[in-house]
Order: sequence, then C-alpha cells, then structure tokens
Amino acid sequence: MLEQVTKVHDESRQGEAYAPVAEETRTYTKKFYIESYGCQMNFNDSEIVASILKEEGFGPTRNVEEASLVLLNTCSIREKAEATVRKRLTEFRKIKQRNPELLVGVLGCMAERLKSKLIEEEKLVDMVVGPDAYRTLPALIEEAETGQKTVNVLLSREETYGDINPVRLDSNGVTAFVSIMRGCNNMCSFCVVPFTRGRERSRDVASIIQEATDLFNRGYREVTLLGQNVDSYYWVNPVNAAEEITFARLLEKVAQISPLLRVRFSTSHPKDITDDVLFTMARYENICKYIHLPVQSGSTRILQLMNRTYTREWYIKKVDRIREILPDCALSTDVITGFCTETEEDHQDTLSVMEYARYDLAYMFFYSERPGTLAARRYQDDVPEEVKKRRLAEVVELHRGHSLQSMQRDVGKTFKVLVEGTSKRSEEHLFGRTDQNKVLIFPKEDHRKGEYVWVKVDDCTAGTLLGTATGKA
Ligand code: SAH
Ligand code: SF4
Ligand code: F3S
Repeated sequence: MLEQVTKVHDESRQGEAYAPVAEETRTYTKKFYIESYGCQMNFNDSEIVASILKEEGFGPTRNVEEASLVLLNTCSIREKAEATVRKRLTEFRKIKQRNPELLVGVLGCMAERLKSKLIEEEKLVDMVVGPDAYRTLPALIEEAETGQKTVNVLLSREETYGDINPVRLDSNGVTAFVSIMRGCNNMCSFCVVPFTRGRERSRDVASIIQEATDLFNRGYREVTLLGQNVDSYYWVNPVNAAEEITFARLLEKVAQISPLLRVRFSTSHPKDITDDVLFTMARYENICKYIHLPVQSGSTRILQLMNRTYTREWYIKKVDRIREILPDCALSTDVITGFCTETEEDHQDTLSVMEYARYDLAYMFFYSERPGTLAARRYQDDVPEEVKKRRLAEVVELHRGHSLQSMQRDVGKTFKVLVEGTSKRSEEHLFGRTDQNKVLIFPKEDHRKGEYVWVKVDDCTAGTLLGTATGKA
C-alpha cells in the first residue's frame, strides 16, 4: 500500500480509486510522498500541490521511506474521515523516529478545521496548511526545515489556482479532473465544507479551456469538471462584462474542444441545475448522460432543517424534468440517515423518494455531527447511533435492488465505451466506462486504452457489466 504516489481514500464517495501509473519518471533530488483523502476536489488539489512542489525540485515518490516530505491531504466531512487520518499520523510517527529529518505536513480540510490545534494535538506534525494556502508551501517548508512549526490556514476569496497546471498523479492517461471552482456558499446545516473551503469562487474560463485542451492534446479523452456546486459556476470577463459564462456555457465550450473528449461534471445541487444545462447535455453527444443529484433526505421537514432549500416535491419534479429532457440519463445520489429529529416517517419518506428515483448509484451515510456547523449549534444530534445505522442499512438494501436492476436493464444493449485500461481481474480483458458511468469489462482483442469501442453487454454483476466488443467507435 505504501508504494502509491497518491492514495485516494474517498470518504465522501466511499469508493477507492487508485491507479498505479506515475506520469513522470524524471529524477529529483528531493522526494515527497502524498496521500489524499476525501472528495475528488481534494485529490485534484494534491495534483496542484505536486505542481507547486515540482517547481521547488521535489518529485513524487511511491515509497514513504525515501521521502523527505510526507503530506496528508485530509478530509473532515465525517468523524470517521478524521479518525482515519489520526491513525495514519500515528503510523508516520514510527517512520519519523527512524528518520528525524522527515517533515510531516497536514493539508486540506482537517488542517483548515483544526488549525494550530493540530500541532498541539499531534506532536509529529511540522506544517498545517489550509486549502487556499498551497502557494505558500515552499516558504513554509523552508521554515519547517529550520525546526520551526508552521501554520497557514488563511482562506481566500480569489484563489482558484487557475494558472497552475496540475501534475497528474497516478494517472491512467485517459481521464482527468479539472477544478472549475472552489468553496461553497450553500449552508447545508450538516456540512463542514463551507467552513473548511471558504466562499465560492469560479475559475477563469480561459484557463479551464486551456487545461482541458492541453489534456486532450496529451491523449486524455475524458475530463470531469469539479466543484462543490458546479451549477453555480459563474464568471464574467473583467475586461469585457458582456462575456458572461454560466455553467451551461462552460459545459458547451469544453464539449466543443473535440467530439472525442468526453465531459463529466460533479456535483450538482438540485436547486441550481437548470434546463439550460439539461438542454446543453442533450445537444452534445460527448457530454456524458450522468447526473449526481444528492437528495440527502426525502422528507421536506428534514430538508428544511438541513437547509437544502428544496422540498420533496420540488426534487421529484427535477427528476421528472431530467428524464423528460434526457431519457437515457443515469442518476446518482447522496443520502444521510438519522439527521437531527428524523422520525420513522421521515425515514420512510427517504425510502419512497429512492423508490421513485431508482438511482443507478448512491453514496449513503449516517449523520455525523461536525463541530461548528449550523446543525451542531442549533439542533440536537438526537437519533441514537443504532437507529441511524439501522436506517442506513435499510437505505443500502433498497438501493442494492435498484442498482442491480439498473445493471440488468443494460444486458443485451450495446454501449460506446471509453477504454481506461486493463482489467484488474485479467490481463486479457480491458475495462472502460459507458456514457452512464458504468464499468464495462470485455476481452481485449486488438483494442487499446484511450480508444472508444462499441461493446455489447452479455451479463452483469452488482457493480460491473460484462460484454464483447463489436467494433471501434
Ligand atoms: N457539495 C457536495 C457534497 C460534498 S460532501 C454536494 O452538495 O453534493 C458529500 C456528501 O457527504 C454529501 O452530499 C452528504 O451526503 C455527505 N455528508 C456531508 N456532511 C455530512 C455529515 N455531517 N454526516 C454525514 N454525511 C455527510
Ligand atoms: Fe456541503 Fe451543501 Fe455545500 Fe455540498 S452544497 S458542500 S453539502 S454545504
Ligand atoms: Fe472532505 Fe473537504 Fe472534500 S471535507 S469531502 S475533502 S471538501
């Protein structure tokens, strides 16, 4: 495990996603080792950090033993996410005992939430750096090298790292993330993100297009545009106010780079996804028909307490609208069980909204109170843990049926698949994704990574489609 350049512990999305290919083989005098936890944005931030460190002569290593700098890019979304990082820090203590010169830095949301407290609590930590302070890393490292503990957790209203070209860590060379905005202005009462990531700001459109074009020219065939709430992307040209870019326009501009470049995005807040976005998706074949539309709860009363600003009925209408404009669109969601005051009736409302939407994919969590959030200050975390967990088990069980049916519906159909690499199970098989984001495995024959292939689905498991190629697409 320790040989990964970046390990992604996707606390927010549950899945783990690491690929073993390092992008660069150039040798550096100094080496850093980085582990990433949390959402895709945090993973992408590690790539920005790698780019900043590269300028300082630091190269990435998969082997923590040869690193002079160890960084943990952390997540605070749930208590468990922080517990995982604490455990990891204990393990690093042993390495530091063997190598006292080693510098240990904590980056990301946990750094922002705990600030200098982290240095008091975790004695081996040398640097604490928040998500908007990565440009100061070189200076902080220099100071830390003199034995001084350093902290920079200033949040910014402008920083987007728009001019920094991320160093792709553990890349498959086919798919990449592109951050289009930072921060979040929604105040969902359960959520720590507005506190750890600060105010929402959108990145300059030209720098986004440039980064995506550059990726395409280097052989990448899919970009995922990232933001906590991509639908509120908004950028006005400072020298020409007539140039006003909404998310729909941005999506269109990225799609126009090439019909061979697939475009995905994450995450949409149900209140902000517009018809304009849905029609733009319909117009471009290369904008993937997949929307992550977190519902959180099916009860209007709970949604109000969560400050999600939509009702159950409003959400259902949004689902109907998506199905009307994009009949083949896959839908995924996030669900929280056991939020403050949630009753059995509220829970039943969540199950019934899931029954209605029949999500292809869902990320499900039980509520974890986060210090400082609106919910922590205003409401009592009064649903017992065993009830939260029992409700979560029911939600998971219901979803399991829906996702299996969603897989089974695809058997017999043919999909255009973008090949991402060789299957983990067999050298003789390739794997890729359908437009709807489902993993499809098929015999290799003469197909290769980065190609589009038509594949007929013969069978499926709960999480994977199995098929046979019928030709190049
Ligand atoms: N901006 C994204 C969410 C990022 S966090 C969005 O709005 O979709 C990812 C998911 O973690 C959330 O959608 C929510 O379901 C879950 N989550 C956030 N805070 C949580 C908490 N305190 N307890 C449990 N789950 C939480
Ligand atoms: Fe958190 Fe809500 Fe912002 Fe998502 S939209 S990051 S859940 S505050
Ligand atoms: Fe976690 Fe921060 Fe992302 S709290 S989910 S790493 S924005």
